[in-house]
Amino acid sequence: MTALTLSTSGAPALRADAIVIGVAKGAKGPVVAAGAEAVDKAYDGRLADVLETLGASGAEGEVTKLPAPAGFKSPLVVAVGLGAQPDKDAEYESEALRRAAGVAARVLTGVKKAGFALPLADAADVGAVAEGALLGAYSFDAYKEAAPAANSAKGKNGKGPLGEATLLGAKPRDKAHKAAAERASAVAEELNRARDLINTPPNDLNPEAFAAVAQAAAKEHGIKVQVLDVKALEKGGYGGILGVGAGSASGPRLVKLSYTHSKAGKHLAFVGKGITYDSGGISLKPAGHNETMKCDMSGAAAVFAAVVAVARLGLEVNVTGWLALAENMPSGSATRPGDVLRMYSGKTVEVLNTDAEGRLVLGDALWAASAEKPDAIVDVATLTGAMVLALGSRTFGVMANDDAFRSAIVEAAEEVGEASWPMPLPEHLRKGMDSPTADIANMGERMGGGLVAGLFLREFVGEGITWAHLDIAGPAFNESGPFGYTPKGGTGSGVRTLVRLAELTAAGDLG
Ligand code: BES
Ligand code: MN
Ligand code: ZN
Repeated sequence: MTALTLSTSGAPALRADAIVIGVAKGAKGPVVAAGAEAVDKAYDGRLADVLETLGASGAEGEVTKLPAPAGFKSPLVVAVGLGAQPDKDAEYESEALRRAAGVAARVLTGVKKAGFALPLADAADVGAVAEGALLGAYSFDAYKEAAPAANSAKGKNGKGPLGEATLLGAKPRDKAHKAAAERASAVAEELNRARDLINTPPNDLNPEAFAAVAQAAAKEHGIKVQVLDVKALEKGGYGGILGVGAGSASGPRLVKLSYTHSKAGKHLAFVGKGITYDSGGISLKPAGHNETMKCDMSGAAAVFAAVVAVARLGLEVNVTGWLALAENMPSGSATRPGDVLRMYSGKTVEVLNTDAEGRLVLGDALWAASAEKPDAIVDVATLTGAMVLALGSRTFGVMANDDAFRSAIVEAAEEVGEASWPMPLPEHLRKGMDSPTADIANMGERMGGGLVAGLFLREFVGEGITWAHLDIAGPAFNESGPFGYTPKGGTGSGVRTLVRLAELTAAGDLG
């Protein structure tokens, strides 16, 4: 894991492998951002020209490497693009800083130490750069030949992440700077752990293994944990979770994580879809659609990471996390299309397509969460391909039974740099799920499939409880190249939004 340090030392004096500076896109060419004054001075105030000569424009994602000037204790300067220069007197957006720091940390893979001399106007900027650096430094090498030594983060063929990120110009004795850095570390470290879980192959991360990881973390962070195994699920009547897990040799689990604070005034419940592998079941997915389906537990990973981060931050709010864990496999014991399941709520569901399994495990978990009458429930799920078609691979959809809550979530997501978009729950789509046999079917009209899934979930939210649903099927797993602080593979989508919601709730600014 990458270490984070704050330092008031100037860039020339820092003994590191590289100094990271920012360059923005100005009206007349690249503009050197604040924080890089010492580097510019050592280049006789000609750094912008030097960068332009090297082809730099300041565009987002751009990286320009140049030798550090004489007198510097580090050999290399890495200039990262910040995108358009802000208008006069305006400051850089947090997200621009986060992305630039992420890009720099990513190109510095395998390097021991780097100094970040990016523009830091306030404590929020310290947090953004810290978060970007720690998230961008992420790499998943656990399965690179040979296996990593127990005390090292890198496999033999993996170079390992940037060892240490030093934020220059951030004051270790400034309370606000320190708090921002600590928040960034807690969030980024737990988010990176979620990425690890998502990237872990499904033969190693089955429901039992995921539950064990959650149990260990809960113990470490003083979170109460309860794991319902198959026997307990049977006793409790969790027909949705059991039905989805019925075909797998690895039985399902429902994990409940309870973080409580003695001064908490509000209670939030987070519910995560945790399908450790989605083959589709008897309604088997064709080749080309199942290779990345280890990512189908990304919602549960996000909920888990968020609860641990909230505990580490000691937020004044009670947060319960529910992980609905199952493996969706075809076999002689699998649920068939045509079977009827009796859900935990007592409702019966005709399973028309075993590949619409997420809503079945979530239905049970939402009903279990509702029993505690929390002030609000937010579920997170890689629920539908339809949402990917609608919003693409970087934006999650937000549905809710309360318009103000839905808006608040989209706003909170925006604040922390997660792209989301409000989606409706059109009433007319409900009747498409009418079943001749059961209370409801698990499929409806094909058009608007993401919204149909949302309407199904709504049936399992307790009366009068504010609820929102985040369909992260697009952004949960990055199948193309890395960008900003987002790596290839598991992204940790949803974690930062959930943590922000807990912060807003603790501050009394939500609901
Ligand atoms: N896990 C998938 C959804 C998914 C698709 C996640 C692509 C990530 C990327 C989900 O369980 C699923 O299979 N949904 C079906 C529902 C349909 C059968 C009603 C879908 O979207 O096709
Ligand atoms: Mn499925
Ligand atoms: Zn699924």
